[in-house]
Amino acid sequence: MKLFVDTGSIKDIEAIAALGILDGVTTNPSLLAKEPGDFRENLRRICEIVNGPVSGEVTATDFAGMMQQGRDISKIHKHMIVKVPLTRDGIRACKALAGEGIRVNVTLVFSAAQALLAAKAGATFVSPFVGRLDDVGTTGMDLIREIVEIFDNYEFPTEVLVASCRHPIHIVEAARLGADICTCPPAVIDQLFNHPLTSIGLEKFLKDWEKSQAVKA
Ligand code: E4P
Repeated sequence: MKLFVDTGSIKDIEAIAALGILDGVTTNPSLLAKEPGDFRENLRRICEIVNGPVSGEVTATDFAGMMQQGRDISKIHKHMIVKVPLTRDGIRACKALAGEGIRVNVTLVFSAAQALLAAKAGATFVSPFVGRLDDVGTTGMDLIREIVEIFDNYEFPTEVLVASCRHPIHIVEAARLGADICTCPPAVIDQLFNHPLTSIGLEKFLKDWEKSQAVKA
């Protein structure tokens, strides 16, 4: 399973990319709004750091506007993926952009029916939001199971990009269900490393080693 980071922070992306486990980046207008500077330039810098897909979202809500912004975003760098919302105009734009060879990530997906529409429109990625479903008392992971099953049934090439991941269990569950990608905030990627027994074990190994060296000296 591929691991993407969900952030617009160049500093955080550089730190995670240096670990060698980063496959791509997702951004959204809320995340990019927090960063200083021009968003196109920020996306270009992100693409230069990460050797993988980088999603940048349109803010237009009409078909023509999405097409114009989508073409513009796709020209920023060869890694760019155009993110469009799951609306009627978004699905229409997805189909048209995909027809021009532009890769599209359909976002704000909250049902299997919506994911099916995105796959039929030729999306490269579909982004179901598990955390936001959990927030409203629905089990987000049930949606991932349904989408993976449907895409497998028909061999849709669209990749399931599990979004709105809030903790490591979301990532483990997504991997068990066979989702293609998880995108999560830098703090959640950081949490993946942590286990108290790893820290305790390492401390003991190092203490034992130091003791043995002192005896030999
Ligand atoms: C995905 O592409 C979105 O940017 C993101 O995962 C949304 O996460 P949130 O629900 O934590 O804002």
